[in-house]
Amino acid sequence: PHSISRHLSCPGTRVASVGSEEQPSGGAETGTEDKTLQKKFSEVQKERREQAQRTVLIHCPNNINEKKFLKYLSQHGSISNHFFYESFGLYAVVEFCQKDSINSLQNGTHTPTQSTEAAIPFKSRFLNLKLKNPSNQVSGQSFVQADSQSPPSSKKLFELLSYAESIDAQLTALLKAFQLTEENVRLRHLTCSLIEDIAAAYFPSCVVWPFGSSVNTFGKLGCDLDMFLDLDETGNLSDHKNTGNFLMEFQVKNVPSERVATQKILSVIGECLDNFGPGCVGVQKILNARCPLVRFSHQGSGFQCDLTANNSIALKSSELLYIYGSLDSRVRALVFGVRCWARAHSLTSSIPGAWITNFSLTMMVIFFLQRRSPPILPTLDSLKSMADAEDRCILEGNNCTFIQDINKIKPSGNTETLELLLKEFFEYFGNFAFNKNSINIRQGREQNKPDSSPLYIQNPFETSLNISKNVSQNQLQKFVELARDSAWILEQEKKDQPSSSSHPWGLAALLLPPGAGQTSLSRKKKKKPMSEKVKGLLASIKSNSPDRSTDASGK
Ligand code: GTP
Ligand code: MG
Repeated sequence: PHSISRHLSCPGTRVASVGSEEQPSGGAETGTEDKTLQKKFSEVQKERREQAQRTVLIHCPNNINEKKFLKYLSQHGSISNHFFYESFGLYAVVEFCQKDSINSLQNGTHTPTQSTEAAIPFKSRFLNLKLKNPSNQVSGQSFVQADSQSPPSSKKLFELLSYAESIDAQLTALLKAFQLTEENVRLRHLTCSLIEDIAAAYFPSCVVWPFGSSVNTFGKLGCDLDMFLDLDETGNLSDHKNTGNFLMEFQVKNVPSERVATQKILSVIGECLDNFGPGCVGVQKILNARCPLVRFSHQGSGFQCDLTANNSIALKSSELLYIYGSLDSRVRALVFGVRCWARAHSLTSSIPGAWITNFSLTMMVIFFLQRRSPPILPTLDSLKSMADAEDRCILEGNNCTFIQDINKIKPSGNTETLELLLKEFFEYFGNFAFNKNSINIRQGREQNKPDSSPLYIQNPFETSLNISKNVSQNQLQKFVELARDSAWILEQEKKDQPSSSSHPWGLAALLLPPGAGQTSLSRKKKKKPMSEKVKGLLASIKSNSPDRSTDASGK
């Protein structure tokens, strides 16, 4: 239940001023027509953070009168943007033109007094608006309206897909329906900013950055909010006063390792969120994970949040994906299509386990697009070779340098359609020698696998690591089978063009669970050859892997 309504109220409003983050290209089919200058990742993140710092989150009564509400808040300064959304109650996100307005608003805000419980008087930017005289407000005029902010239901999705005129149009429609909206992006940055205020109680100059799919251009409505607690914002140290014979250091406590330090910091922040954080519920400290984290739900924004620290490489990975996602409009459309396809067939899951992750799927799409002729995406090594001095970046001893200015990267001359690319993606990975080769976006070439993990995707920055180490042979096999089936379905579609849009066709046919949608004439025709083909494929997979195919073929 997440719906939204947005209105602009003051002159000089800049709704989409930094809104290019999630829709980097202008919807051009080949990605070569878009001439607008694109911002660097770090610039977008800084602007979004500054915007979030001028913003408050207000829980409102349902029968709020919008005009009166805005007039009341304008006492504290002009408002540059606001919108309403519903998430177990009505909430308003209000962005002031000036940061000072927040102080003014907070100065006129009370800590509630309760008779049975006591309030922890933590003064945040998450507020609660009450009506002094509820009956006065219900005047029937100017009630807030709500658009949907949640991803479309599968019924809606299939409707949408059936109206599209081509597979290319289907992939574009899917992207439009699932990508993060401008409001959702704002709410994500605001939530990080609210958490930053809490962490700042211990570490006054810390920054909480969103990373992962919230910022890497591949976020789907409803995805989790990954946060990174940055305690020494890189590059912040001014060295102009560091001349002379002395060097000043802070007195600090020492612990045995970086990991222990991270665990200790996350532990106290976790306690702080749990005890004092307005709206932070279900706080879990998961400190023994490979990457220690604090997981919690943020009521109000409705996001599931994962807070990590000492994780700057993940932020850099997000920047790399942002660049890949912004370079060519086909990238995001294809990644969304593949992610939805994988989710529809339970190849991915929200529960951690032996499944392929969205992150790995994205890497596979990028790798595939590097392999096209001519390539649609450059290799990471070539992005590194284009870097200049200010792009230089070494994190934890790893060279994470690559060009940050997207505008300096030459667009691809490849004009293949999304339909072709989707089909070829399935064909490529349906026949990939996973038993021998690893996927490597740094070189854009397959290489010999350094170990026996079923799926090996080299971590782009920590090159001795495999980002898909968790994936079991069984899950990989399921992926390969579904990829082959899907390539085959798309091949058939091409032969007998969709006769009627009342039957799922194209992308819609790919998203159906196996066995569904066979009422269509064309599907009936396919039925027999399909099962024969699957049997053959299974046999070929069995011949080079341990026999664990029973549950995959039984479904
Ligand atoms: P969603 O499924 O939409 O949340 O995609 P996501 O990209 O946000 O993935 P997730 O929340 O699982 O992880 C957040 C970020 O952590 C990713 O974007 C990566 O940068 C990083 N990450 C996730 N899994 C791995 C991994 O196995 N290895 C490494 N090196 N980084 C990872
Ligand atoms: Mg995520």
